[in-house]
Amino acid sequence: MSKSRKFLIASALVSVLATPVMAEKLGLGRPALPEEIEAWDVAVLPDGTGLPVGSGDVMTGDEVFADKCASCHGDFAEGLDAWPVLAGGQGTLRDVRPVKTIGSYWPYLSTVFDYVHRSMPFGSAQTVSADEAYAITAFLLYSNGLVEDDFELSNENFTEIVMPNAEGFYPDDRPVTEYPLFSAAACMENCAEGAPKVTKRAIELNVTPEDPDGKPAGTIPAIFAAADAGTASVTEAAAEAPAAEAVAEAVEAAEAPAADAVAGADPALVEAGEKVFKKCFTLSAPLTSISIVTH
Ligand code: HEC
Repeated sequence: MSKSRKFLIASALVSVLATPVMAEKLGLGRPALPEEIEAWDVAVLPDGTGLPVGSGDVMTGDEVFADKCASCHGDFAEGLDAWPVLAGGQGTLRDVRPVKTIGSYWPYLSTVFDYVHRSMPFGSAQTVSADEAYAITAFLLYSNGLVEDDFELSNENFTEIVMPNAEGFYPDDRPVTEYPLFSAAACMENCAEGAPKVTKRAIELNVTPEDPDGKPAGTIPAIFAAADAGTASVTEAAAEAPAAEAVAEAVEAAEAPAADAVAGADPALVEAGEKVFKKCFTLSAPLTSISIVTH
């Protein structure tokens, strides 16, 4: 290895390990200005650390939300088309289709403030002032039924708000509660000779656990049949499952662009693909639905 090459590698290492020193020597970069650090340093923690001084009330929040957020999230934070729902869903976390919103799911109010202030409106992040973020947060509490319409939120009363699902999160206790169940000594008696031979599928043997409605346990409500068969059964499904209406809309929204995109594709290829995809659709239906529903 040549001397200069060795030097290059060494200097690369040094620049990784001690950037400021090399930056000075190479004349690259400069220390960040306090204002620049401040602009990035927007994290707000559950205990209120990082909250900027400011305040905003529900009414102001309603106006700002209508102006900057409602085009995607709806006037009442109910979510338009497939955009995220921000209100409602209380008591649904144990449902087959939980509606996870700020009110039903989020454990800390700080996440609302931090997220809105940091990354919304989608595509125009960090254009919401601190006061606007307080007002929007107050409005989101209101639209989740957690405060009255005359409520004003500020850095002073912020940590007094306890979110309904604050107790719904706890440290992962599986090493204590689950691992012992799987670590007993393996039974090595009466073992079958030779390699196992597959003779039947569980579904033919009828050993797949069933729900009371006779469907395989954990089957998501009729929406998949609906998506397959068309609008008539979508309406049926909507009557059956509370969240199905939203899903039906999401499915519709998801289907429209897809239909446009395949115009001009080889019909034979599309048909073949459809056949193969049907297999995946039945098997992985729950996953498919979740990705459609959330975003
Ligand atoms: C152009 C559409 C659009 C606009 C306008 C918009 N959002 Fe969003 N919002 C989104 C999308 C998309 C997501 C999901 C982003 C992701 O998951 O990465 C989202 C996510 C959120 C979430 C988190 C939802 C969850 O449960 O994960 C909140 C809270 C939120 N937005 C609040 C706001 C607020 C407040 C405004 C107005 C200041 C706003 N949004 C404006 C599209 C939008």
